[in-house]
Formats: sequence, C-alpha cells, structure tokens
Amino acid sequence: MAKPISIEVWNPSGKYRVVSTKSMPGTRWIRLLTDNDCRLEICTEKKTILSVDDILALIGDHCHGVIGQLTEDWGEVLFSALKRAGGTAFSNMAVGYNNVDVDAANRNGIAIGNTPGVLTETTAELAASLSVAAARRIVEADQFMRAGLYDGWLPHLFVGNLLKGQTVGVIGAGRIGSAYARMMIEGFKMNLIYYDLYQSTRLEKFVTAYGQFLKANGEQGVTWKRAGSMEEVLREADVISLHPVLDKTTYHLINPERLAMMKKEAVLVNASRGPVIDEAALVEHLKANPMFRVGLDVFEDEPYMKPGLAEMKNAVVVPHIASASKWTREGMATLAALNVLGKIKGYPVWGNPNAVEPFLDENATPPPACPSIVNAKQL
Ligand code: DGY
Repeated sequence: MAKPISIEVWNPSGKYRVVSTKSMPGTRWIRLLTDNDCRLEICTEKKTILSVDDILALIGDHCHGVIGQLTEDWGEVLFSALKRAGGTAFSNMAVGYNNVDVDAANRNGIAIGNTPGVLTETTAELAASLSVAAARRIVEADQFMRAGLYDGWLPHLFVGNLLKGQTVGVIGAGRIGSAYARMMIEGFKMNLIYYDLYQSTRLEKFVTAYGQFLKANGEQGVTWKRAGSMEEVLREADVISLHPVLDKTTYHLINPERLAMMKKEAVLVNASRGPVIDEAALVEHLKANPMFRVGLDVFEDEPYMKPGLAEMKNAVVVPHIASASKWTREGMATLAALNVLGKIKGYPVWGNPNAVEPFLDENATPPPACPSIVNAKQL
C-alpha cells in the first residue's frame, strides 16, 4: 500500500475532489475551485519532485481531477489510476507538456490542460535578461565584487559584447520567440535573423516598421531576414535564442557540429527545454572557446547540470525560472485550475488558448470554458 502523503484540505464538503500536487502562487485559483463545489487537496510534502507512487497515493480511489507540474511523469500508470478513481481531467501548470504522454491520456479519456497565453512576455524577458547577462558578463562581475576582488577600474575589466547593431538570431519564432526578438530589437536595436517552419509575418512587419521609425528619427534602421536553414542563423547571429518545442526532431538540436558553426564570441540562450542542447558537448565548447557565452534556464538532466558546467565562467545558469513573475505564475495557477474545473463541469474548450485575458481578470467571473485542452479533438 502506498504511504500516506501530507495534504492541506480546502472546502472539505465539496462534491468534486480535485488534487493539486503542489502549492501554487496566489489564492484566486483556490477560490475558483472551492466556490464551485470542489474539495481541494493540496500536497504539502517537502520533497520538490513527487514520484509516480507519491501521485498515485494522492489520487487514491476517488478523484475528479489533478493539477500537476512539469517535473512529474504523467503516463499510463497515472492516467489509468485517475480514470479508475473517476477522474477526467489533468492540467499541467505549464505551457510545455513534454512530461505528459498524451496518447496515454487519450486512451484513458483524460483531458490534458496547459497554460499558454500567460507566460509569453515573462519568458521572453528572462531570455532577454540571460542574453544581456551573458553578453556583458554580469554574473562573473557580480561574483568578483562580492569576493572583494575589485581594487580599481581597469581598461580590460570584464569586457563583453556590445549588442547594438549586432544580429539577434531566433530559432522558433512562435509567441515567445517573437516576443524575445521584439525585446532585443526594440531594446538594443539589433537586426533579426530567424528560422521557423512558418513565416512570422507579424514579426517581419514589426521590424520593417520599427526600422522605418528609427530612420525617420535619424537613427540607423534595423533589418530582418527569414533564414532558409537553422545553420544560417547559427553562422550569422551574434546572439541566438532557442525557442522550439521539445520533441524527437529538436532533441540535441544544438550538437557539436552546430556549436562549431557559431561565431567564437556568440551568445547562446536557452529558456525552452534542456534536451534541445547536447549539454556535455556545450561544456566542451565553452572550455575550448572562452569568449563564447551561454545563458541557460533549462538543463538536459534537470535539476542536475552536466559535469563541468557549474565551473564555467562563460555560462550564466538559473533554475528554470523563465515564467517566474508573480503575475504569470498566478495566472498559470488560475488557468490550470480552470482547465480542470471546466472539464469537471462539462464546459466547452475556449476558442483561442492564447487569448486568455478573460480568465485572468481578478474582478470578473471567468467564462464557462476550459482555457486550453491540448487533446480536445482526440477525446
Ligand atoms: C512552461 O510553462 O513550460 C515553462 O517551462 C514553465 O516555466
């Protein structure tokens, strides 16, 4: 028998039993569930990553829906257990759902929710921050100060890369990639080269108009180019940010051959998913090319880093915090809760999962819909 798991219970007499495998930011998501006849059980176990057995114990033999996290392994075992417990809904508190076996969910008739539309700008801001931090060696310089090593201004002290007028490369120009590109173009007046299977007409139009605006104000304009291949971006860009979805085709997209194509002083940023980069190869590349810099929010074997990475001064590393702004995290919690609630209540799926503002308005009742169900068509 599975060992008991510690929980906090809200609205004990609620008709529908909903489990959240973690405490999440804000309180609106709790209110939305409890005001709608849900008994909410929030796992309060201290361990960061729950095992499948832990989650089985949480589901128990009577559970209508679960809100889970991207660190959990949601496959056949959990979905069949949820189905046996009478459940129909699971929502990741994340836009990415590579931790979820959607086929297994389909087999068990479980709806899978995710949380797009609320973390675009926040994630892009972190990618932009990593770009600047890596280019201008901010973390190295901070450590130097704290170590009491600063004994006076020097011409060579922490010389990094100027961004203005350089080229920013974006691989995957979807919502987050496009928002990141705009930040780098507007903020640092960089030129754009991007690679995506789909043409990003909106982004192109924006860069054209912004370039015209700059010129009209007597400044140098900015340009854009849609690359015919990813390699073209890697060869030409000074700063490259990765924004693909992780799947079989993007696993180790950045490998030794592609690292070798990049400029010796390029900056590479990853706030998508760790396995998009062959991290062991990256460590070797960082060792061999001290002027090459990376900014990483995600790691191949998260939460671990590949041996050697932590020692590399030319790497800025943060613990998967790209979506970690208060507004976004509270919004993600709200959307995840509403996905589960909506399915339990039999609501339809919202028409545009990227236009989720009506669900996020603190002062309004959310629409009677599931904000984003990724397998709605298959169910
Ligand atoms: C997501 O939502 O997929 C992000 O990685 C969380 O920060």
